[in-house]
Amino acid sequence: MKKLFIETLGCAMNSRDSEHMIAELREKDDYETTTKLEEADLILINTCSVREKPVSKLFSELGVFNKKKKEDAKIGVCGCTASHLGKEIIKRAPYVNFVLGARNVSKISEVLHKDKAVEIDINYDESEFAFKDFRSSPFKAYINISMGCDKSCTYCIVPKTRGEEVSIPLNLIVNEAQRSVDNGAKEIFLLGQNVNNYGRRFSNDDHKKVNFTYLLRELSKIDNLERIRFTSPHPFHMDDEFIEEFANNPKICKSMHMPLQSGSSKVLRDMKRGYSKEWFLNRVEKLKSMCPEVSISTDIIVAFPGESDEDFEETLDVMRKVRFEQIFSFKYSPRPETEAQHYTNVVDADVASQRLTTLQSLHTEILDEINASQMGKIYKVYFEDLNQDMYVSGRTDNNFVVKVKGSDELLGQFRDVKITAIGRTILTGEIVE
Ligand code: 5AD
Ligand code: SF4
Repeated sequence: MKKLFIETLGCAMNSRDSEHMIAELREKDDYETTTKLEEADLILINTCSVREKPVSKLFSELGVFNKKKKEDAKIGVCGCTASHLGKEIIKRAPYVNFVLGARNVSKISEVLHKDKAVEIDINYDESEFAFKDFRSSPFKAYINISMGCDKSCTYCIVPKTRGEEVSIPLNLIVNEAQRSVDNGAKEIFLLGQNVNNYGRRFSNDDHKKVNFTYLLRELSKIDNLERIRFTSPHPFHMDDEFIEEFANNPKICKSMHMPLQSGSSKVLRDMKRGYSKEWFLNRVEKLKSMCPEVSISTDIIVAFPGESDEDFEETLDVMRKVRFEQIFSFKYSPRPETEAQHYTNVVDADVASQRLTTLQSLHTEILDEINASQMGKIYKVYFEDLNQDMYVSGRTDNNFVVKVKGSDELLGQFRDVKITAIGRTILTGEIVE
């Protein structure tokens, strides 16, 4: 068998795209994966373009890969940066053999055999939806439910790299979920840029028009499927029906990602997010009142053009009110082909760094309090990972990572666990049943 080295950057959708490419290459071209670059016959970088840093890193990394690789090994650049830079990549790094966009990963076997191929068209080809069943974890199945994004957030490059939003037909998703459960997964993780906008557009009119709540109900009918997670929902589409289904459906894990981006209604308007601070807080209140055990995570961008000290204070205010269990926080990074790249009221770089530090320290304080209050609680944990130090770890329904002493016999199993020690990123416990 030939050897494939694959590096995956970016989000869960990219990870799923990588699984699909691995499966295609295994089936059609007899590849198996390796973690050693030097022995690879094919090197793939599945890239992210959401911020500038990973894009500039790509070219330095390509140079290193080119030096280290076997003489006749091929290099392919895939994913979002491939979509966005296209043939520019081969211009800047002529040793790259092919470029394959995020929306074209199904074509990996085709481009592999065409030197200097650049495949980045965005279309509604339904063969793109038929993702292979290969999965990097036997316990959890990542399943795409839509591709692309129809929003026009002024900072975001994704609509350009992943194209218009198209929902994958309900029956394909349900069948894929059923097959993964038949193969032993007890959890599915639904993926899309705006999952709760599911049903917005299908590739043709024959497909049943249903919304995300309906999809969740259909999936939860699958026997032996115990947990359903999803990312990312959009706060704008969090209507009452969706929140009620989330709270009342026992198979849906009580962990919600709510990308805030900013707590200032003015900045949210400039970002074209489609909701205000008040709407966001109103949705959180509804969610917490219906589902007190919910844990909420978020994404925040600091120092968006025009963000004043007062605007930033509003973000801190939302942080204190919501008390997010997890935050992913970023300094604003101007991206090509976005509206905000032309905004001139740029925030000073030192102020941006200071705001990021302030935000992250506030979150650490909140997290320490949340974690401390977990001591002695009993949670059902689904064990997924064997750690090197004789510990096995997994997640609670509301997404805390918990480890217990144990062996691989626990993998794929649910156990009730009492929390006995607190760490910042992982809790330790003992099995009580
Ligand atoms: N600058 C900084 N962060 C960004 N994100 C998206 N675009 C940008 C940008 N231009 C962040 C958002 C998004 C997450 C995936 O990345 O917070 O939710
Ligand atoms: Fe994922 Fe967005 Fe990065 Fe593409 S640009 S890999 S969609 S986070």
